[in-house]
Amino acid sequence: MVSKITVKAPSSTANLGPGFDVFGLAIDAFHDEVTLTKTKSGITIITDDSIPINSENNTAGLVVKNMKRKFKIKDGVEIKIKKGVPTGFGMGSSAASASAAAVAFDKLFRLKLDGNSLVEFAGLGEKASAGSVHYDNVAASVLGGFVIVKTNPLDVIRIEPPKNLRMCIAVPDIDVPKKKTKVSRGVIPKKIKFTDSVLNLSNASAIIAGFMKRDPELIGNSIKDVIVEPARQHMIPGFAKVKQNALKAGAFGVTISGAGPSVIAFSKSSANLKKISLSMSKGFVSKKIKCKIIICKPSKGAADKRK
Ligand code: HSE
Repeated sequence: MVSKITVKAPSSTANLGPGFDVFGLAIDAFHDEVTLTKTKSGITIITDDSIPINSENNTAGLVVKNMKRKFKIKDGVEIKIKKGVPTGFGMGSSAASASAAAVAFDKLFRLKLDGNSLVEFAGLGEKASAGSVHYDNVAASVLGGFVIVKTNPLDVIRIEPPKNLRMCIAVPDIDVPKKKTKVSRGVIPKKIKFTDSVLNLSNASAIIAGFMKRDPELIGNSIKDVIVEPARQHMIPGFAKVKQNALKAGAFGVTISGAGPSVIAFSKSSANLKKISLSMSKGFVSKKIKCKIIICKPSKGAADKRK
């Protein structure tokens, strides 16, 4: 009988411009690892990383707590978390731990849940960090590839991304607010212009077409958001310059990764990805900010580490 399991879940980028809370893409830049071990009782969290260790405030802990309650599981669970995804930078860090926990719990207790149920449980973990449930990052991290999140009822549509899709991500070395996602959700306009919603809808539709046609250029040049990006960009010093530089260097499209402050440029494998990356870091340097650059590709979803 299995009494211990380790699941590795990828980082992800949410929104992809106009798809706020709806689009997600799993990316192979970073991974979190969660090991669940059956114990006699209760939930214990072990980690060397600076994250909360009580189950109510820990994304993986909240997932395990909810799943234990829902499936009336009497065993205790020890949760060991090894963070690889940087916390608070818009790379789906909380989602990676939550997704790994949901997939590991499912395997440990042989629940055989379907993709939508796993995403639903993983989404509950987001509450611990974002203050509300949103499924875009967890859907990508659980299922891998590009995802479209339909809600009420939750139904995630997954599309296999083009093999030659590449992303350059600039992670600025700046202080982020403690509850960053909650803060950056607070600046989103409550009312929007009808013409802006039409523009975002047309671009979002074109992004889906781009994934279906396996066309990185169509995906990238449809990454245009006139609603959320303008409201959030003041939280990222140098954003306009980083974006302008990357587009000049040949990126198809540039936007905020999730709730930021990382900035993501979309391109393809045959492009000069180093040139795009360098131009992004020069954009941040213009504001005297250092940044880490990562060139990455789409990832598969959360899986047993042994596989
Ligand atoms: N869609 C979410 C947001 C993602 O932009 O607030 C947060 O990681």
